[in-house]
Amino acid sequence: MKAELLKRLFRAIASSDTEAIDKLTNLVIEEERGKGHTLLADQLENIAKKSQKEKSSSNGNSTLSPSNGNHNTLSPSESLQTLGELPTSKRLNIPLVSVVPREKLRHHMVLPPNIEKRFRRIEREYAARDRLAHHGLRYRQKILLYGSPGCGKTLGAERLAWNTGLPLIKVRFDAMVSSFLGETASNLRLVFEEASKKPCLLFLDECDSIAKSREDFQEVGEIKRVVNTFLQILDEYEPSSGLLVAATNLNKTLDIALWRRFDDLIEVPKPGEKELEFILKETLSSLEVGAINWSAIIKQMDGFSAAQVVRVAQDAAKRAILEREELVIQEHLEEAIAEIKVG
Ligand SMILES: Nc1ncnc2c1ncn2[C@@H]1O[C@H](COP(=O)(O)OP(=O)(O)OP(=O)(O)O)[C@@H](O)[C@H]1O
Ligand SMILES: [Mg+2]
Repeated sequence: MKAELLKRLFRAIASSDTEAIDKLTNLVIEEERGKGHTLLADQLENIAKKSQKEKSSSNGNSTLSPSNGNHNTLSPSESLQTLGELPTSKRLNIPLVSVVPREKLRHHMVLPPNIEKRFRRIEREYAARDRLAHHGLRYRQKILLYGSPGCGKTLGAERLAWNTGLPLIKVRFDAMVSSFLGETASNLRLVFEEASKKPCLLFLDECDSIAKSREDFQEVGEIKRVVNTFLQILDEYEPSSGLLVAATNLNKTLDIALWRRFDDLIEVPKPGEKELEFILKETLSSLEVGAINWSAIIKQMDGFSAAQVVRVAQDAAKRAILEREELVIQEHLEEAIAEIKVG
């Protein structure tokens, strides 16, 4: 841990400044996580959570959930209350968005250092948004995550919500894209308008269903209008104190005009050899692992997505458990890999 951080933490403890203590403990957790000490970071996070829970129940309130140096961090129930009524499709009367409760957010990601750095920069700018604003600077607000299937785009959005403490509001494109096309644009406006009023992470997963290229010959008339509305809304959107995250599998077919509207574009890559080995070992960590030729295994998994790597490890673990040995061997992994390749 950095000496400066340690000193700040001790000063906060000495002066019983609970707000600063919460903030600094979170910085420590994030620092450890950034170093790849995931297990230690999780343990510290659990300890911090427990003590915050105890504090809030002894205070007779149930407000703050684990903070991330962010004063807007709310408990799931509180964030739902703060969000108020959710926008609803007028004709079908179904919600246009869904809220992912904090306890359901997945947030452990294994990324190459350069990409991890970019995610952390978004989180750090968000935490420092007031200081940035003081100097006339705006934190990165609109983020586009792109990359092939299973590389962690959805996970990336959840991780950003987790680390900023923002409630994650997911746009439901099924409800949004009405068969009455004229309605899609007004649904879009409604969702963005509502979301801009409250601190939240507005998540447009698989946004390509709306943001199709305007040059696509099959898309005509109304769809063009929807895309234009989307571009205009993106331009105008200024979250009060939140983030907008869009995710897509596509890159080339995305409208060029759309790219310009984002403050940050991150390609979430497939895992490299190092990440692949880390994900495998981490997923298998609850079991005993025999002598494995890791480099041979990793070679066989060249080109696998992170989701496929997790699947291989889980499948190998199941094979080991079913064999009652609870010992993962090379064969288990190779069989699981072969199955994915056939699939
Ligand atoms: N970078 C990563 N580190 C660790 N696990 C990952 C990573 N990326 C993906 N996974 C694993 O793969 C699963 C699927 O990832 P996710 O749904 O985020 O992929 P995606 O890029 O959104 O895929 P799609 O394009 O199909 O929507 C996750 O639940 C997680 O188990
Ligand atoms: Mg996804």
